[in-house]
Amino acid sequence: MKGIILAGGTGSRLFPLTKITNKHLLPIYDKPMIFYPLQSLVDAGIQDILVVTGGKNAGDFLRLLGNGKEFGLKHLNYTYQEGEGGIADALSLAEHFADGQRICVILGDNIIEGGIRPAVENFRRQERGARILLKKVPDAERFGVAEIDGNRIVGIEEKPLKPKSNYAVTGIYLYDETVFDKVKQLVPSNRGELEITDVNNAYIREQSMSFDYLEGWWTDAGTFDSLLRAANLVKESREAMEGVAASAVGGAEN
Ligand code: G1P
Repeated sequence: MKGIILAGGTGSRLFPLTKITNKHLLPIYDKPMIFYPLQSLVDAGIQDILVVTGGKNAGDFLRLLGNGKEFGLKHLNYTYQEGEGGIADALSLAEHFADGQRICVILGDNIIEGGIRPAVENFRRQERGARILLKKVPDAERFGVAEIDGNRIVGIEEKPLKPKSNYAVTGIYLYDETVFDKVKQLVPSNRGELEITDVNNAYIREQSMSFDYLEGWWTDAGTFDSLLRAANLVKESREAMEGVAASAVGGAEN
């Protein structure tokens, strides 16, 4: 399975922080944002990764990440999104890279506490279709929201005024090779973008969409509040882990 990180866009909701840099290069506590989704893919055993970026600062990703050596990778791939066509438009640039294989797509501003390996393993066993990760949230209207019936998702609404559930569709998507044909069928939404939610609904209509619930905390980082929350969550997790490590050492010494 190949991995794709979508790290383009203008980051307009974070203006003026994003006036002179790309959103995904901003700090989340002690690391640039893009480090987190990249680590999530690597931790799930995905080694062949493409970074889709854009804007005026695309070259900075190469300077920051190089060939991914810091992440134990031999090589990293990059491609460039012209303009502001939306998440699904950015994804369409990955068709050549995917080369008929299955893909794990992660939005560059999605930060998670746990790992995605269980979902990736489940998708490997899945015969066809797609798989998404859901997370219960108090502010579902900010996200794509899944309508669930038993163990099936029957539809996803993008930022609904009245969400049909509390389950947000996280920005982590597993797709089979038909995804690019689905992207080609899309028409721009009201905000003039090709929506990833429309891709997911195409799989739902085909009855080939599965899902897992994501364990641990999850946040995006595309607004001032979520950017701050992401940093705080990372800091708290780090401190909790250091606390566990310190008490383990203390225990060994006693
Ligand atoms: C995007 C997707 C949305 C998803 C969210 C997760 O929203 O359109 O369905 O729930 O990412 O982070 P955006 O961040 O572009 O508003």
